[in-house]
Amino acid sequence: MKKILIPMLALGGALTLQPALAQDGEALFKSKPCAACHSVDTKMVGPALKEVAAKNAGVEGAADTLAQHIKNGSQGVWGPIPMPPNPVTEEEAKTLAEWVLSLK
Ligand code: HEC
Repeated sequence: MKKILIPMLALGGALTLQPALAQDGEALFKSKPCAACHSVDTKMVGPALKEVAAKNAGVEGAADTLAQHIKNGSQGVWGPIPMPPNPVTEEEAKTLAEWVLSLK
């Protein structure tokens, strides 16, 4: 058991220390249910993520607001359809928010 646990802990530690790279955001996006409602370029159930980035360009604290919305859900920002809360940790929500904001 120890043999398995130690590398796993080491890997977990390495992952938390890594800065949130753009690619992590995309991989995370694909591993979560997000893609059922969002694409980068096209509006689906939810807004195109590039549009979210454009709307929030230069807005102070946008990454925090978006992370909150990704984790807890959101309603009324883009229209009448609400986004339900998503199965992400706070850290994952932040990584996703920063990735969304990096899209152009
Ligand atoms: C069931 C469909 C659905 C899923 C699943 C979903 N979204 Fe959304 N998302 C929406 C809708 C609808 C909106 C617009 C909500 C509004 O108008 O406030 C939205 C809005 C957003 C916004 C913009 C929020 C803002 O304040 O402008 C971001 C960013 C976002 N989603 C990212 C994600 C990410 C990342 C995931 C996966 C963890 C995800 N969404 C999963 C439907 C969804």
